[in-house]
Amino acid sequence: MVLQTHISLSHLLLIASLLSAAVSAATTISPGSSLSAANPTITWSSPNDTFSLGFIPSDPPTSPPSYIAATSYSGGVPVWSAGAGKAVDSGGTLQFLPSGTLRLVNGSGATLWDSNTTSRGVSSAEIDDLGNLVLRNGTVTVWSSFDNPTDSIVPGQNFTVSKVLRSGLYSFKLVKNGNLTLLWNDSTVYWNQGLNSSVNTNLSSPTLGLRSIGILSISDPQLSTDAIVAYSSDYAEAGDILRFLKLGSDGNLRIYSSSRGSGTVTERWAAVTDQCEVYGYCGDMGVCSYNDTDPVCGCMSLNFELVDPKDSRKGCKRKMEIKDCPQSVIMLDLEHTRFLSYPPETDSPIFFFSAGILTCRLNCLGSSACDALTSLSDGTGLCYTKTPGFLSGYHSPAMSSSSYIKVCGPVIPNPSSSLGTAGNKKNWKLRRWIVVVVVFATVFGLMAFEGGLWWWFCRNSRSFGGLSAQYALLEYASGAPVQFSYTELQRSMKGFKEKLGAGGFGAVYKGILANRTVVAVKQLEGIEQGEKQFRMEVATISSTHHLNLVRLIGFCSEGRHRLLVYEFMKNGSLDSFLFATEEQSGKLLNWESRFHVALGTARGITYLHEECRDCIVHCDIKPENILLDENYNAKVSDFGLAKLVNPKDHRYRTLTSVRGTRGYLAPEWLANLPITSKSDVYSYGMVLLEIVSGRRNFEVSEATNRKKFSLWAFEEFEKGNIKGIVDRRLVDQDVDMDQVKRAIQVTFWCIQEQPSHRPMMGKVVQMLEGITDIENPPDPRAVIEGSAGGTSMTVSSNVNPLSTAAESAPAPSSFSSFQSSGVSPLTSGRNTEKATASLIQSDPN
Ligand SMILES: *[C@@H]1O[C@H](CO)[C@@H](O)[C@H](O)[C@H]1NC(C)=O
Ligand SMILES: *[C@@H]1O[C@H](CO)[C@@H](O)[C@H](O)[C@H]1NC(C)=O
Ligand SMILES: *[C@@H]1O[C@H](CO)[C@@H](O)[C@H](O)[C@H]1NC(C)=O
Ligand SMILES: *[C@@H]1O[C@H](CO)[C@@H](O)[C@H](O)[C@H]1NC(C)=O
Ligand SMILES: *[C@@H]1O[C@H](CO)[C@@H](O)[C@H](O)[C@H]1NC(C)=O
Ligand SMILES: *[C@@H]1O[C@H](CO)[C@@H](O)[C@H](O)[C@H]1NC(C)=O
Ligand SMILES: *[C@@H]1O[C@H](CO)[C@@H](O)[C@H](O)[C@H]1NC(C)=O
Ligand SMILES: *[C@@H]1O[C@H](CO)[C@@H](O)[C@H](O)[C@H]1NC(C)=O
Ligand SMILES: *[C@@H]1O[C@H](CO)[C@@H](O)[C@H](O)[C@H]1NC(C)=O
Ligand SMILES: *[C@@H]1O[C@H](CO)[C@@H](O)[C@H](O)[C@H]1NC(C)=O
Repeated sequence: MVLQTHISLSHLLLIASLLSAAVSAATTISPGSSLSAANPTITWSSPNDTFSLGFIPSDPPTSPPSYIAATSYSGGVPVWSAGAGKAVDSGGTLQFLPSGTLRLVNGSGATLWDSNTTSRGVSSAEIDDLGNLVLRNGTVTVWSSFDNPTDSIVPGQNFTVSKVLRSGLYSFKLVKNGNLTLLWNDSTVYWNQGLNSSVNTNLSSPTLGLRSIGILSISDPQLSTDAIVAYSSDYAEAGDILRFLKLGSDGNLRIYSSSRGSGTVTERWAAVTDQCEVYGYCGDMGVCSYNDTDPVCGCMSLNFELVDPKDSRKGCKRKMEIKDCPQSVIMLDLEHTRFLSYPPETDSPIFFFSAGILTCRLNCLGSSACDALTSLSDGTGLCYTKTPGFLSGYHSPAMSSSSYIKVCGPVIPNPSSSLGTAGNKKNWKLRRWIVVVVVFATVFGLMAFEGGLWWWFCRNSRSFGGLSAQYALLEYASGAPVQFSYTELQRSMKGFKEKLGAGGFGAVYKGILANRTVVAVKQLEGIEQGEKQFRMEVATISSTHHLNLVRLIGFCSEGRHRLLVYEFMKNGSLDSFLFATEEQSGKLLNWESRFHVALGTARGITYLHEECRDCIVHCDIKPENILLDENYNAKVSDFGLAKLVNPKDHRYRTLTSVRGTRGYLAPEWLANLPITSKSDVYSYGMVLLEIVSGRRNFEVSEATNRKKFSLWAFEEFEKGNIKGIVDRRLVDQDVDMDQVKRAIQVTFWCIQEQPSHRPMMGKVVQMLEGITDIENPPDPRAVIEGSAGGTSMTVSSNVNPLSTAAESAPAPSSFSSFQSSGVSPLTSGRNTEKATASLIQSDPN
């Protein structure tokens, strides 16, 4: 399940229909009342029916049926439960006893949970419109469900340091210093997020809260303004929506939203972007990997079996324990696999060897204190041993690490799987090694000989250095990427002195090559890819040439160092022009330049999507990635990098840049739907709006009625107030209002929620140029949330209803409303699919 909602649709529908028929009880619950699982239609409701407390069928359904006593949001979305989800049979009751205590009792009469408020003078109970169940002595609150949370936090609820959310072995806590942590078994911290580093105070009593508009923030008496932790992807959007934070049984912390009465929930934010990085997700000795869409759990080889064949998440066990092994114990090789450890091996003084993997394996085999090991293949040659105990594995074809675990021989590899295969390939491997060594020795011998000759002939030549530079220039001119050595680049950058910026993929420095070419050198971070893949990607990027794309000159790949050398753009990135403050207004771009930039950017992206040989989905289009040369031509940068960085997540969703770039991400990123070139179109639309308005699309201010700027702009556009959207700083300049109108219309077509409603990039260019007429765009977010699966379906009155059905088909029919204008604004869907394939299927193996 992508969304891990734990609410089955059929149940929700059932509850929803039951609720509507339910007899609403009085607001105040008096001692002596009770609820019965046999009669789930009777509930205790809040004054305006927003929340209600009652029995709901447990999820997943059981046979015979069992029930939990839960507080649910209108529509049947549970946000609190008595006894943290303890299930009762149909004879179960929830009793508010005259003694003032609230008690969950099983059909057998056993007490499963008690609020322990006997003899504390409780005289009444109530559930309020925020969803808080309160037990009171007069007006004094004795106990409340907000102070005793289970796995969720709703707006209005204060989550403080002493509180904890739990789900199975997982828990979520707020630390006194303001850090948020996710823990496994109360010991392993697998997610830890500190406050924004600009917050430089020691907190005294931090409180975590979720604002109803979807912002998760920490408040503290020491902070003048709340420190924001996360935004839900639909934050500040209007509507009768409940947003809530929930720790799932899969160990991930998410923000969901649910429209009133719908009973469905949609994921809006997740703490751990790569589910396989949740510690213990697949249980002890289980290995997490991805099928095309979802994380799946399995065992390392057939020497292991699932603890519970019905639930692969329970982990694996050895078929034969090591201590009982009659044969010899051997090491199972697991390529592309890592045993997770938190903090990561490289950050912690975990026991390691540096004697080479062979010695390391032998050592482990001979020691009962070693069960397994991981070699990160990071060029350090270190291997990290694991003591017997819980092991949590992660396998991905793109991961360079290898792992080894003791098994009772012989190794029986998994059928048709890339996991655990080495045993019977050993001989073959050995032979391959010999061949490789012989070939290398020969090649090196020849090279040394040739080099020797060359040096002998050239040592007296004064032009030695110049020759090398000329050779590099020749290579540059021929279009092939030049390979630089690390020392050479270090020298050209004067030891990383002049930093130009820090993008999502790493810091960028200015450098001057031996031939006086000024370059921008990007020092990539988080590359887990092997040398070969890296070179292949570099070749692809550097073979992509277009006037509106930043040109890659060369690269460096040495040990852990991966650097890319780009042509230098004199005028820097677009954001510094768009969002320049008053003092820097010398940097303001006039309308003509802006339109030129918008068009250039669109042409560059069109080339990436539709015209070049290996189509590329950029994945991170934003003003920071649009550079301007000395003539203010737009050049798109950072294309092709999404594939390079963090390939271990095959969906390329864990990009560091993506984490930070809210506002430009298409909704499908957060809904875990396929990323296609249409996702770039969405980001482009947002950038285009910013080019017109000079304001960030996600900005919320009084001037925009506390709405996201993009939403506000659409309302103004509907009202015909185009002038109100245009950058105020252009007010006394010559602005071509026809161009502005086209740009704004294109924006709203580009940011349609449904990818199939967005035009192809080539069509965007034509629309901007005025070659194609533009129909009035429908409301970009005319959305009715879809099924419990979380997929959003758009049903908009302005869009032909057929278009939703055409979602997976090539797009033309989705723009049938355009055909009235005589020209279809769409090229065929073929290119979209091509571009998708290059991103999604580019499994480096
Ligand atoms: C509740 O009672 C049923 C039978 O009456 C029993 O099977 C079940 O285990 C009990 N549940 C708990 C949590 O005690
Ligand atoms: C109530 O008290 C019992 C017995 O002391 C304890 O086991 C239980 O955890 C308490 N319940 C709550 C909700 O604190
Ligand atoms: C209930 O509240 C009253 C008035 O505030 C107080 O006098 C009484 O002691 C309380 N009862 C208990 C059991 O705390
Ligand atoms: C119910 O009450 C809450 C809190 O007062 C309020 O935020 C919400 O809008 C109300 N809902 C309806 C449908 O009246
Ligand atoms: C949460 O904290 C705020 C500010 O301290 C307070 O006004 C509010 O009443 C608290 N809410 C609850 C439910 O305790
Ligand atoms: C969780 O921790 C406890 C003690 O800290 C330990 O006894 C238990 O085995 C651990 N659970 C798992 C599944 O490892
Ligand atoms: C808080 O989190 C940050 C990471 O965001 C980490 O560097 C820091 O060590 C954490 N502090 C504590 C006390 O865990
Ligand atoms: C930290 O806060 C500053 C100012 O409030 C903000 O500009 C910056 O974007 C924040 N950084 C992060 C990583 O959220
Ligand atoms: C926070 O507390 C530490 C240790 O008590 C102290 O060294 C530091 O100066 C404090 N920082 C601020 C900003 O008060
Ligand atoms: C991936 O696994 C999930 C859950 O096990 C399953 O529902 C889905 O169909 C699988 N997808 C593919 C393409 O095998």
